[in-house]
Amino acid sequence: MQLSVKKTQALKAKTGCLVLAVIEGKFKTPLIKELDSRLDGVITRATREGEFRGSNGQTLLLHTGKRLPAQRLLLVGLGKTRKIDPERARQAAGKALEQVKSSHASSFALDLGSFGGKGSEPAVVQAVAEGVLLGGYHFDRYLSNREDPEPVIRKGELLVPGSREFEPAVQATERAKHVIEGVTLARNLVNEPGNVKSPAYLANQARELAQQVGINCEILEQEQLESLGFGALLGVAQGSSRSPKLITLEYQGGNCDAQPIVLVGKGVVFDAGGISLKPAEKMDEMKMDMAGGAVVLGVLKAAALLKLPVNLVGIIPAVENLPSGTAYRPGDILTSLSGQTIEVLNTDAEGRLILADALTYAAKYHPRVVIDLATLTGACIIALGHHAAAVLGNHEGLIRQLIQAGKKSGEKVWQLPLWSDYANQLKSHVADMKNIGGRPAGTITAAAFLQKFADDYTWAHLDIAGTAWEEKGQPCNPKGGTGFGVRLLLEYLGGN
Ligand code: BES
Ligand code: MN
Ligand code: ZN
Repeated sequence: MQLSVKKTQALKAKTGCLVLAVIEGKFKTPLIKELDSRLDGVITRATREGEFRGSNGQTLLLHTGKRLPAQRLLLVGLGKTRKIDPERARQAAGKALEQVKSSHASSFALDLGSFGGKGSEPAVVQAVAEGVLLGGYHFDRYLSNREDPEPVIRKGELLVPGSREFEPAVQATERAKHVIEGVTLARNLVNEPGNVKSPAYLANQARELAQQVGINCEILEQEQLESLGFGALLGVAQGSSRSPKLITLEYQGGNCDAQPIVLVGKGVVFDAGGISLKPAEKMDEMKMDMAGGAVVLGVLKAAALLKLPVNLVGIIPAVENLPSGTAYRPGDILTSLSGQTIEVLNTDAEGRLILADALTYAAKYHPRVVIDLATLTGACIIALGHHAAAVLGNHEGLIRQLIQAGKKSGEKVWQLPLWSDYANQLKSHVADMKNIGGRPAGTITAAAFLQKFADDYTWAHLDIAGTAWEEKGQPCNPKGGTGFGVRLLLEYLGGN
């Protein structure tokens, strides 16, 4: 979709669909009154009949029958509110795009002023542009006919009334586009099927990205991982004929001597569970088990495009977890890169094994902060559902900052405790630890496991198992990979 800012009055916009936001019960604005009279009072009738009140997320689609330059008019409700905040505007814009898509319009023009801030408040404009681009996403790479069942939306315009609002709106829209470049990269990679995305594929994507935005990329191959002693990662990888890769990316946006923020992302390209095989139902969704890694790539891309003044390192351990004659087994004892030994009691708890080695490796960058993202535990979905990610770590200040960034970006995170009691569940008689802690508090024991490899620096862990994948489709999250974490981390990094 081509998205631009345009100086045009809503009444004069020639478009497939004119989009207007409405505060609940507030239909007496000059613009709505004028539209209503041009359309022979249909808006008044729809509101009087109770068909549309402007409640949060409600929509009303009208055909204009040539009484306006726009073919259709879409009203989207903002609910009862005095001040429209960016997240509300983002959700409304995403909802609007969902409706524009199903209306079969191939273009739209959105009246920015109605979404708050008189059309020029940068945070609101950026949020609206994000909402539109998030909601307009569709993974259509493998469709023979991309226009079926809905036409592709080719052109979107954000309308501002005059020159004063134009420049700030253009800048905010450009920022949104960079952010969404990162989200879209992450979504595309998550949606890519397992037959296509081998660890080598991810490594190539990282190399291409590095070329494209001018950052450094290095790949450690299997032989190097062997000689360096990545025993936990290699244990997981040995069941697949597709060899593992450790992907590292470096972006220097800050002072050359400033310590970097290191982002570590779980990159299991497909998780069948290994010898502790998963049930068949929904196993296909485990192509998303590299979402953490995809988010790291997305953040690095957007950070480079936005020229954020920070130093960033991305580390993605990329492996495949399959059962086979060469696969690791329950009972195996692995020696991790840190030297600590791990008794594998369930080969399906593989994410923490590859992350253990990646977290140990992260220390070599003398990080200011390390944040890992992983679709780590089904237990996280039981705890928080699909609405928030879990955050745990060894530094309350960092956790606070992430929760705050979650509120601002709309990508919510919620803290779980990491008291030392939980680590007791990981005690083994034959090795330094087990890789599972039993059923109680599965998300916490997974984090307690990671903590044993992350104690040399300030660290937080985000379990995105419940938020990385959207099953039904939400306004800003069409079905499939969500890219959850890209906007959160960019907000944390000060990119928004
Ligand atoms: N990738 C899964 C976790 C997952 C489950 C992510 C559902 C997204 C949706 C992870 O590797 C896993 O299998 N975890 C096990 C751990 C258990 C064996 C301790 C789980 O949660 O069942
Ligand atoms: Mn698993
Ligand atoms: Zn997994």
